[in-house]
Amino acid sequence: MSCRAVIFDLDGVLTDTAIYHFYAWKALADELGIAFTEHDNEQLKGVDRLGSLRWILQKGDLTLSTADEARLMQQKNAHYLELIDHITPDNLYPGVQPLFAELKRSGIKIGLASASKNAAFVVERLGIATQFDYIADANQVTNSKPDPEVFLLAASGLGVAPQHCIGVEDALAGIEAINRAGMKAIGIGDAKVLSGASKVYPDVATITLTNLLKL
Ligand code: BG6
Ligand code: MG
Repeated sequence: MSCRAVIFDLDGVLTDTAIYHFYAWKALADELGIAFTEHDNEQLKGVDRLGSLRWILQKGDLTLSTADEARLMQQKNAHYLELIDHITPDNLYPGVQPLFAELKRSGIKIGLASASKNAAFVVERLGIATQFDYIADANQVTNSKPDPEVFLLAASGLGVAPQHCIGVEDALAGIEAINRAGMKAIGIGDAKVLSGASKVYPDVATITLTNLLKL
């Protein structure tokens, strides 16, 4: 394929916020008396706020009113925002800046496709907001990952056809979304977990432009 754009997920790919989403969901699950492990959390990576809450409630055989769901989502988000209050450009994963610079030098566009409603705040805090040619996040889409909508929106915002885009994701739901969007998927994490990806790297620092262009 000839790569004209790389579209990155945010949480767990460019920075370590995935763990704080886990801590905040875990605190809520504990309060509700629902067992929730890091292994369970693999299913929730990339899944939006309501989808994540409902997954946890279902695990505990709980059904709540819309008002109670809204209250718990608000509670989780307030806790999450507290946990990420300290983030600065130092929280950007190693390798992100050099990779972005390499992409820019080669005229390859950089997009963001995040399932988080806090994405704009986080990229601002990381000091990378202006480096994206287009940012697509949960505030602009109706269908959450594994639906391809957020990746397709990013591609169209970048003005690049999906078959010329590469998506980078740490989540099972995200890899599925990229594949369904008709893009090539790069996984960040464990190859056994992210089996749907064309290639899996342990972290962004191990991705180079040369290996992206080989896809
Ligand atoms: C995704 C994370 O990026 O965003 C999920 O992988 C998180 O863990 C989801 O639940 C929604 O985030 P937010 O910030 O809108 O609650
Ligand atoms: Mg992620």
